[in-house]
Amino acid sequence: MKKCLVLHGSPRRGNTYKATMLVVDELAKQPDWDFELIRIKDLNLPFCLGCFTCILNDENKCPHTGILNPILRKMLDADALIVSAPIYILQINAETKNFFDHLAWIFHRPRFFGKQALVITTTAAAAAAKGTKFLKETLYQMGYNHAYELPIACWDAEHKPKARDLKKIRALAQRFGRDIQGGKLYKPSWYHIIYHTAFRAAANAGSKDRTADHLYWKEQGLLDKVYPHKPGIIKALFARMMTAAIKAMMPS
Ligand SMILES: Cc1cc2nc3c(=O)[nH]c(=O)nc-3n(C[C@H](O)[C@H](O)[C@H](O)COP(=O)(O)O)c2cc1C
Repeated sequence: MKKCLVLHGSPRRGNTYKATMLVVDELAKQPDWDFELIRIKDLNLPFCLGCFTCILNDENKCPHTGILNPILRKMLDADALIVSAPIYILQINAETKNFFDHLAWIFHRPRFFGKQALVITTTAAAAAAKGTKFLKETLYQMGYNHAYELPIACWDAEHKPKARDLKKIRALAQRFGRDIQGGKLYKPSWYHIIYHTAFRAAANAGSKDRTADHLYWKEQGLLDKVYPHKPGIIKALFARMMTAAIKAMMPS
């Protein structure tokens, strides 16, 4: 059984929802898939207060943890994640962004290693690829191993997907499905290595205001590891040099 969690960021069941369901329908053609759809709007998640409690202290002390923790458990439990969002003024909409703002502490204490995702944005014309890139990088910072990008230009508010869109959507869903079924693990990208190394160096420094990070990385056995899975010789060498450079620059 493969579990797929779908986080749908549009407040309506419009273009983004339709595209998301096309992906889900394609995945569901393979045996033994279980889907759960969560509409971010239905979470009634207040705006992130920017209090820093999660980052500096404890994520469980976030005033909105009661809403977030069940979703986080589902994300950890799922084999596959789909995130979909509409583009509002050239970026993903605020509801989706607000959800991920609440998970900023995971940039500092990454998890989800080895997990796969597919990110979808729809737009009238502009910034769909910017939106998927943003979501992909957000997930990479949180430790996700790979994220397929599906940016779709819809032109109309009630768009009927064209044959070309359908072909693209189905092909990507099939590749995603094959990766999940086969347990595919991608080599970490340069993006993974650079940010992981930077946050690892900060956690290693263990400065007073980063104690939560230091303890987490230590508990996970990640403080002295270049990356949780093998990055290849060149990236490993680069990470070691970057670690040494950061160490030299940090106040002792
Ligand atoms: C508030 C708002 C802002 C939007 N901003 C843009 C934009 O900057 N560029 C663009 O090409 N389309 C823009 N659109 C169009 C939507 O991105 C597009 O219709 C999308 O498919 C809507 O997704 P939905 O049907 O899931 O709501 C905007 C739509 C809304 C409602």
